[in-house]
Amino acid sequence: MKKELITLGLLILFPVLFAQQVTIPIATENSTLLLETDRDMRLRTVYFGKTLRDPIEYALVSEGYQYFDSNAGIYNAAYTPAGTWNISEPAIQVVHGDGNASLDLKYLSHTQEVLDENTTITRIVLGDELYPLRVSLHYKTWKHENVIEQWAEIEHEESLPVLLKKFASSNLYFTNKEFYLITFHNSWAKEMQPAETKLSRGIRSVDSKLGTRAMLLQAPHFILSFDQPAAENQGSVILGQLAWSGNFKLDFEVDSYDNLRLIAGINPYASEYLLPKNEIFRTPSLIYAISHHGTGEASRGLHSWARKYRVLDGQGERLTLLNNWEATYFGFDEQKIAALFKDAKELGVDLFLLDDGWFGNKYPRNNDRAGLGDWQENVKKLPNGIGYLVSEAEKEGVKFGIWIEPEMVNPKSELYENHIDWVVRQPDRPEKYFRNQLVLDLSNPEVQDFVFGVVDELFTENPKLAFIKWDCNAPIFNAYSAYLDRNDIPQSHLYIDYVRGLYKVLERVRAKYPTVPMMLCSGGGGRGDYEILKYFTEFWPSDDTEPIERIFMQWDYSYFFPAIVTDNHVTNWGKQPLKFRVDVASMGKLGFDIVAGDLTAEEMEFCKQAVGNYHSFKEVIWHGDLYRLVNPHENDFSALMFVEANKSRAIMFNYLVNNRYMMTATEEPIRLDGLDARKKYHIKEINLFPGTRSRINADKVYSGDFLMKVGVNPAISLRRTSVILEITEAME
Ligand code: DGJ
Repeated sequence: MKKELITLGLLILFPVLFAQQVTIPIATENSTLLLETDRDMRLRTVYFGKTLRDPIEYALVSEGYQYFDSNAGIYNAAYTPAGTWNISEPAIQVVHGDGNASLDLKYLSHTQEVLDENTTITRIVLGDELYPLRVSLHYKTWKHENVIEQWAEIEHEESLPVLLKKFASSNLYFTNKEFYLITFHNSWAKEMQPAETKLSRGIRSVDSKLGTRAMLLQAPHFILSFDQPAAENQGSVILGQLAWSGNFKLDFEVDSYDNLRLIAGINPYASEYLLPKNEIFRTPSLIYAISHHGTGEASRGLHSWARKYRVLDGQGERLTLLNNWEATYFGFDEQKIAALFKDAKELGVDLFLLDDGWFGNKYPRNNDRAGLGDWQENVKKLPNGIGYLVSEAEKEGVKFGIWIEPEMVNPKSELYENHIDWVVRQPDRPEKYFRNQLVLDLSNPEVQDFVFGVVDELFTENPKLAFIKWDCNAPIFNAYSAYLDRNDIPQSHLYIDYVRGLYKVLERVRAKYPTVPMMLCSGGGGRGDYEILKYFTEFWPSDDTEPIERIFMQWDYSYFFPAIVTDNHVTNWGKQPLKFRVDVASMGKLGFDIVAGDLTAEEMEFCKQAVGNYHSFKEVIWHGDLYRLVNPHENDFSALMFVEANKSRAIMFNYLVNNRYMMTATEEPIRLDGLDARKKYHIKEINLFPGTRSRINADKVYSGDFLMKVGVNPAISLRRTSVILEITEAME
């Protein structure tokens, strides 16, 4: 079928025999990015807006624009080169083998290949007339989801290597006149704090220089809205992300026409890359979803794309779990862990997850100051090894998973003693630690083998191991690689080769273990992007599990990620009642990180019932469409709902997020969304704490039309701070 479609597909090649104008529409269902050559065959962006009904008319678009060559440079170049007559912020800057730093890119050819009914890839080759250097711009589009993935490939045939000083993934141009940008800023336990700015002249940059997990301080995701601040159900918006798990840079520049240039890619900071002849330098991708009806529709497009095309097993199942981290920290032994399997069973979750602290013998991992890197079971804590725990868990009827942090090392470890040259550190400067640890040098293939070996050994020795939590807590300080030095590779390759090394390891892991679920964790800051999520089934958004904070954080993550990839655990953070904590954690992939034995009988009864409910509605959360209804940033309460594809069932979550006494109750109904106006629905409150009664009458029947125009009042108040409603189609 696919082959047929490919052969049916449009394959166009335009060699530049005659310098005639070339117009290239890159279209999704709702939007088109239009590129066109000028009279000198330089490629420009001439339009980014709603898709035209008649594609023939794209050739007429540029007639209406009269930009004169500006002394400030080429603003709307599709990929702005540096060193010739452009003097605006470049997308690419190189030094040729002979030391010359000039580059001018002109259109050479392009192809558009239809991969299937939904997916098209456009490749455009640009080249320099003086030097044999080419840049291929790639645009992959998913029509129905309105998602575009964009990257560049740089190669040359010069006899000496070319130094790449800047190498953006994408260079976009928007001619609307007002631009609003939301970016997300963090620190540990405060991830994804949104900041909205109206862009004005000049460049606003968001970047990371952390080396490893990209998101501790600023996130690579953004919301760009046109002509008005971002709104949930109206206006043109782009939800974007640089899919790269290392240093990134996003530059938003309002030029002298009041148009917006967006240049996004790997952060060029300390990252000059020496490119040998005939080797292709592929940039990471900028991925974005577009909507002309606000952030809600854009998120649903992005979520559906992520589940179908990107995240590992995005359309599959996930395992609910009990994690022992906050229950025991490092203080456990075999008996204590085995006893927790019963709790997992009683709660009704699928898996028990053993966290940090199970390894290291010469330097036992009894706190975070020692043992990281020595991945042998600690014989005192686990005399019978992991295998024993796996089979004990199985006897209880739960699966077993394990925590690792294989990219890192404590200086107090055998790994550090034996392989100090595997550690990223400046040999002649004092070491600087983050959580008492350092980063291993993944640019080194031996280190890649080691990290792969950690995972491989665990699976080889314990074939029934069902889950991995892959942590990553330190950024790169004192960036220096002994391996690069030994091999005469410039040190400025380290940041890029680290991430590529990580991806190589993950490729190998997935080639051998394609399906086992893995959680991507990075306690300090979160680590989640659409490149690394090709290898992971889910990620840990933050150590902050205080449920009110989580309502905000999960709301903000939900712009970019579907609920199936965000892991939410019930913990003892904060003062909210257990029901509130469980309800909030149920809005993604549910887990527990509590001492279940400390729960009262009533609390345990509630948890069992809530886990049972979760199992009954998880399909809707994982694979349904998300509708954000009441924004916690703007209101005293918050509401959102997930709707099954056939609109027969939905789950609505409602919370009080302001405990001031003035906020007494939800006074008005909340309008629902995403239902079928013609269908009739029952509304039933679920996850009631034992002994409490619902204020919602489950016998009543409402039309979808009514629920979406008038709504329902979940009766949130200081006494009912968390309410889950199940909306089910009423059978006549
Ligand atoms: C940070 C993670 O976020 C926690 O959940 C836990 O796994 C610790 N690391 C273990 O060191």
